[in-house]
Amino acid sequence: MSAEDYKRKLSEYFFHSCAGMSLALAKQTGLLDVFYAADHPLTISEIAERNNSKDRYIEELLGSLVSAGVVEISDDSTQFHVPEVHKTYLRKYGILCSYTISFAERFNTVKECFKKDGAYDIDMLSSLNLKNIEFKVLDIMDLPTSFSEKYDWCFVQDVVNSLPIPEKGLSEMYRCLKPGHVLCLIEGALPGNMAQHVNDLHACLYYTASTFVCLPSSFQQADSAALGAMCQADDIRMALYKSGFKIIIETASERDKFSALFVCQK
Ligand SMILES: C[S@@+](CC[C@H](N)C(=O)[O-])C[C@H]1O[C@@H](n2cnc3c(N)ncnc32)[C@H](O)[C@@H]1O
Repeated sequence: MSAEDYKRKLSEYFFHSCAGMSLALAKQTGLLDVFYAADHPLTISEIAERNNSKDRYIEELLGSLVSAGVVEISDDSTQFHVPEVHKTYLRKYGILCSYTISFAERFNTVKECFKKDGAYDIDMLSSLNLKNIEFKVLDIMDLPTSFSEKYDWCFVQDVVNSLPIPEKGLSEMYRCLKPGHVLCLIEGALPGNMAQHVNDLHACLYYTASTFVCLPSSFQQADSAALGAMCQADDIRMALYKSGFKIIIETASERDKFSALFVCQK
């Protein structure tokens, strides 16, 4: 790659991350909802009114979204809208950009984990702060004894690679399933190695998520497995084998080249 191309690429990452931050803010402040619901262009005051926001902040954020080409503006700079055909994608990427904000929220804590004498893991559960869902917080590596042979089906997605001892979590699920019943596991199942991911931003997303989420969960001490989101299918197969499961179906995801579904029987 020429130095000029390299410079262009880095500057794009910088500029795109700014646009992504604005998109996430627009999603989380409800600004995008105003655009989804609107069937005609709106002024700044109308948008601010519908969103119960301050005009000045809306104006500034719209500046970012307009200049990034996310929102369209009238020639006299007074009205804003998102064409109907763009709304489906705006919904999808508004949510995805919000996801990267969760990386930013743990930025300083992850920075500390890098240090040799820093912590290995982050207390993920308390940082989730979920309010609109009821769930039981249990350690998958130490499930209640009352769960033994109780369940018809287990399903986990991208959890096993986040465990310090993957086979320990799998063994616990094995114990909780009724004999002959099934665990469905969606996990990273990497085709190739790092050198094969050069210039692959899909891979970059996974490595980033892994740095901010999976390692700070799984890397609890120096000898933790810490497989990470970009783990090899062989690592998962081995952990399944060690915990007693038989893989009855293994299929690569059509949508996500870095994921595979393992259907496993007790
Ligand atoms: C990469 S995230 C995947 C989350 C979600 N399943 C998904 O696909 O978006 C890994 C998840 O594993 C959970 N996890 C890590 N260690 C765990 C443990 N010991 N017991 C239960 N869950 C755990 C984390 O809380 C986190 O939600």
